[in-house]
Amino acid sequence: MEDPAAEAARLRGEIAHHDQRYHQLDDPEIADAEYDALVRRLRQLEEAHPHLVTSDSPTQRVGSAPSALFAPVAHAVPMMSLENAFSFEELQAWGERISRRVGEASAFVCELKIDGVAMSLRYEEGRFTRAATRGDGRVGEDVTANVRTIASVPERLQGELPALLEVRGEVYMPVSAFEALNRRQAGAGGRLFANPRNSAAGSLRQKDASITASRELSLFIYQLGAVEGGRALSTHSQTLEYLAALGLPVNPEIRTVDTLDEVYERCRWWLEHRHDLDYEIDGVVVKIDDLAVREELGATSKAPRWAIAYKFPPEERTTKLLGIMVSIGRTGKATPFAQLEPVVVGGSTVAQATLHNEDQVRAKDVRPGDTVVVRKAGDVIPEVVKPVLAERPPGLTPWPFPTDCPRCGQPLQRIEGESDTFCSNVDCPAQRRARIEHFASRGAMDIEGLGERTALLLLDHGLVTDPGDLYRLSPSDLLGLEGFAEVSVRNLLAAIEASKERPLANLLFALNIRHLGPAGAQALARAFASLDAIVAASEVDLAATEGVGPVIAASVARFFALDRNRELVDKLRAAGVDFGRVEEPALPQVLSGRSVVVTGTLDAYPREAAEEAIKARGGRAPGTVSSRTTALVAGAEPGQAKLARAVELGIPVLDEAGFAHLLETGELPVTGGAPGADR
Ligand code: IVH
Repeated sequence: MEDPAAEAARLRGEIAHHDQRYHQLDDPEIADAEYDALVRRLRQLEEAHPHLVTSDSPTQRVGSAPSALFAPVAHAVPMMSLENAFSFEELQAWGERISRRVGEASAFVCELKIDGVAMSLRYEEGRFTRAATRGDGRVGEDVTANVRTIASVPERLQGELPALLEVRGEVYMPVSAFEALNRRQAGAGGRLFANPRNSAAGSLRQKDASITASRELSLFIYQLGAVEGGRALSTHSQTLEYLAALGLPVNPEIRTVDTLDEVYERCRWWLEHRHDLDYEIDGVVVKIDDLAVREELGATSKAPRWAIAYKFPPEERTTKLLGIMVSIGRTGKATPFAQLEPVVVGGSTVAQATLHNEDQVRAKDVRPGDTVVVRKAGDVIPEVVKPVLAERPPGLTPWPFPTDCPRCGQPLQRIEGESDTFCSNVDCPAQRRARIEHFASRGAMDIEGLGERTALLLLDHGLVTDPGDLYRLSPSDLLGLEGFAEVSVRNLLAAIEASKERPLANLLFALNIRHLGPAGAQALARAFASLDAIVAASEVDLAATEGVGPVIAASVARFFALDRNRELVDKLRAAGVDFGRVEEPALPQVLSGRSVVVTGTLDAYPREAAEEAIKARGGRAPGTVSSRTTALVAGAEPGQAKLARAVELGIPVLDEAGFAHLLETGELPVTGGAPGADR
């Protein structure tokens, strides 16, 4: 067992190192969760052995010393950190500590915990005069010129102006802007940012403000600093309303609730919906609403007692990269992926993670043997973010992207102007297996019991070479194969037989034509009514179909021009596969080509049913509002960000009755016009 004093010293050393990587270099080596674990362990040790506490321990201070790159700025009111809670019990314990000091709190404000860079903005007589980072909480860095380039930072405030106003908030980079920036960086061979927060920090830490200006940064204000004059305020929610009225960007997702049960409900709701937002949040900040009660509660040396951050479980963790492999998909696409020492991240155990393509591997330069940061966010497939260079063992060499297909040995080819690499051998066993698996999958021919394992078995025994051969299988072919007995043979053959009756759209999708997804297949099926008509159609005819663009049309024409694909069609015809089963849409397609976003709770439809109703009428039901949105349907407790965006873009906002009308007729209800549309 390590001696507590030695362990505390070691932990402080490690924490100081990671503080420097995070605050000075904007290039953390470890995930936040691992950093938090180090600080937690140190706090545990200090609680068990109070004589080990030192005044400069990371548990006693905030942030890190300001860098020499920017002029120092002393904060008139210190910028504090927040205490964290990772469970409902920890939230309750916080509530109990408050009750003991000031009696039971009656109102809590729940805000999003924006994952960005803390900033203090100063306004004198309503004019923006200075911006400073948090630094060590007392002294920060003067980044005025850089922050001035951020579009959402008002140069002048309006309304009941205080003589002096310092506000605190978070500078962040929207996720879409972060992804676009990394795509540009990868294309130009530049440095990739690990996540939106690092890219916001890196974009702010520029001597040349024009670089900051070229990055799409934004800001939310959530707290008052020093203030002289202005409106008298008695609650935090009033304060936020006042700041918004002055013209400052206040996050719209704010809710005041009465009990900690409701606070926790809000935290869980946001845990589910965090990825609906175009900015990253890492928790919910809970604040006592009553400013007099806050005053009474005061602060520790590090954090106010009147607020706590409920932190979400981590979506990034570090683990060992055991090896890099390349998988070959049904179109021949070669995707590099990492084999990892299993790690729990984003709510599940991850042992493999994608590396996307050759450019990404090169830009990230992860090497087998590295410790790497792995990320699994929401529904997105897990990915390797970057290596932890400080932990790289000596002698590791860069991983070379293979020149030949790892399965068939034929050369891999990269299409000019694209980032993907392909195995060009259509007879490659890996592609064959993936094509058969896709043919049998749900949404395609839906052949129950024909998955990866069976596809491989059939290919390995030479029983099939393409999906057309499935219809020639006999019981004697299958009996005796590993895992097959009389009943399973009968079931598989019955499932194959039943698949002959699938709709034309499924059959088209099953054929594995590049770029052709289920929606394009459906559009072609409805327009041409038979597979033979599609095979015979010219590229121009195909492109004239609504819902089929020139890329899909060219790809379909190219596919059927190849002899081998025509032979496949012949095999399917000979087997008796139905080429002309077109499913008429059950409902009039009044929303065809339209996009309707649903937010909040509707009486007549649970969320999924509302989205199904839109899709059943030919519409799309995406999760975010954009300029292409036809209408936003807002039920009870709608997402404030979606509402604000719709109003900003002049998109009609419908209530439940308006939605019913839209579903029935495809028409927007006639009202005074969209909110804000004629202003
Ligand atoms: S209030 C004295 N509210 O989280 C209280 N902070 O982990 C000051 N943060 O330093 C903080 N969203 O940089 C507050 N809605 C929010 C926040 C928020 C993000 C950041 C802030 C703070 C850090 C603590």
